[in-house]
Amino acid sequence: MAQQEYKLLGDKLFAYKGTVFPVDDTQELTTEYIDSLENFEIKDSDVFVVTFPKSGTVWTQRIVTLIYEEDFPELENEVTFLRMPWLEFLEKGKDYSTRPSPRLFCSHLQQHLMPRGLQQHRGKIIYVMRNPKDAMVSYFHFAKFMKKLDSPPDYDEMLDKFFTGWMIGGRWFDHVKGWHTNKDNYNILFLTYEEMIKDLRSVVVRICEFVGKNLSDAAIDSVVERVTFKNMKNDAKANYEFLPEDVKDPTKGKFLRKGTIGDWKNSLTVAQSERFDQVYQERMRNLPLQFIWDVK
Ligand code: A3P
Repeated sequence: MAQQEYKLLGDKLFAYKGTVFPVDDTQELTTEYIDSLENFEIKDSDVFVVTFPKSGTVWTQRIVTLIYEEDFPELENEVTFLRMPWLEFLEKGKDYSTRPSPRLFCSHLQQHLMPRGLQQHRGKIIYVMRNPKDAMVSYFHFAKFMKKLDSPPDYDEMLDKFFTGWMIGGRWFDHVKGWHTNKDNYNILFLTYEEMIKDLRSVVVRICEFVGKNLSDAAIDSVVERVTFKNMKNDAKANYEFLPEDVKDPTKGKFLRKGTIGDWKNSLTVAQSERFDQVYQERMRNLPLQFIWDVK
């Protein structure tokens, strides 16, 4: 194993090459596999949804798979991740390179670890961002019911983890900066969770245009209807309810929790929020990004 830069963080996570992964022996998640992804061959028809965790991954994954629904008739009643698996969370015994095209993938990888082939404007990346206070609060709850994650006891500790990047995906700041500053090398569509909340239909239309899928108005309406928070929350497959109990504790939460903008206000104290703002200002100073932090 390439131990260089590999570090266990407690017994549930490991750090490697500037990011963090779960220790999970049900997956092929080794440093060799992570290294090999740089050379994962890209096809022009590949589509990747890339996010920092808790930024709307499962939502966008669902939208894109529905946009491509006609390409997977045999998977009509299957769970979303069979149509769009996470590139780095390879199931044991599988080989994602041989998936039939169009290949759809999700990923929480930072830019420097993603397949290099994407850099020649091959394939397509949909990068979804969310205001980091809401992403952090969402992760705090998520970590309570996902047994393979470290669950911080309170928000002071959650802030420490968020700033040091001791969580899946590593540091939010590095993730967003890496992708944003290198955007000119990629075929990439930047979206925000907040714009999806505010005008879901427009986002679905933009995704269709970006990936070159010409859906009728009725088909777009159907996608939008099926991915509303209410409908996805009641859809066991979209909500990952099939995950076994050694992975998640169903009494402690769900993938779809609140689905709003500004929930951080119900969770962080004024002092915690100010601490966050200070770090945010320092680390994001040179990046021309504006987030929506609250519903007006
Ligand atoms: P909250 O915990 O704030 O509710 P990810 O998929 O990247 O893990 O992101 C999870 C977040 O996206 C959760 O946020 C979840 O509720 C929200 N989400 C998932 N599907 C959604 C939908 N259809 N509409 C709005 N929010 C959604």
